[in-house]
Amino acid sequence: MLDDAAQGFGASHKGRKLGTFGLATATSFFPAKPLGCFGDGGAIFTDDDELAATLRSIRVHGQGVDKYDNVRLGLTGRLDTMQAAILIEKLKIFDDEIAARNKVAERYARGLSNVVTVPRLAPGNTSVWAQYTIRLPEGTDRDGFAAALKAQGVPTAIYYGKSMHQQTAYKQYPVADGGLPGCESLSQDVISLPMHAYLTEADQERIIAAVRGAIAG
Ligand SMILES: Cc1ncc(COP(=O)(O)O)c(C=O)c1O
Repeated sequence: MLDDAAQGFGASHKGRKLGTFGLATATSFFPAKPLGCFGDGGAIFTDDDELAATLRSIRVHGQGVDKYDNVRLGLTGRLDTMQAAILIEKLKIFDDEIAARNKVAERYARGLSNVVTVPRLAPGNTSVWAQYTIRLPEGTDRDGFAAALKAQGVPTAIYYGKSMHQQTAYKQYPVADGGLPGCESLSQDVISLPMHAYLTEADQERIIAAVRGAIAG
């Protein structure tokens, strides 16, 4: 099993951190991610030594024991030193940042759960809140909602406006009979609010008031 923890790195399931399940787990250090560097970066976690050796080779052009003998087709996938230096420092405060993000999520849930659908954690799970994505009540004009927030200086984003099967690149592949109504309707209803470890209580109160005002119309 290959896991994708690009939005979940740092989270856990039944006390076990993501990255320890399955054969391997990939994560992303893209700046928008919970543990972001200042450019592109990522990592793969595995306990399988053979897979790790193959991945190391692929990372550096497919190099073999002799570094100028490429034994397979590889990538230019090195994490550059600047990004590594940033990540080393950010890792030291990552747990504190996760705790702060959880406080932000709790405040949003308290302030918004009676006007929009807020995300809930399944029992046994923790989250790093890569996004704080709410679901608007049926029939809400999402563009109008986003414009109302923007007018008050509150940025929003849609993660994501198109499901996988609606992507142009996948157009020629079959889709289940009846489509995928769950993700299709979510892609129309969801919107994400500002979420980071340094969001002040005052700013968050302003965001909550803006959301409540926009819903009330
Ligand atoms: C769930 C998930 N997987 C993979 C990726 C890809 O990350 P990267 O662009 O760093 O390869 C992203 C980034 O948006 C993501 O959110």
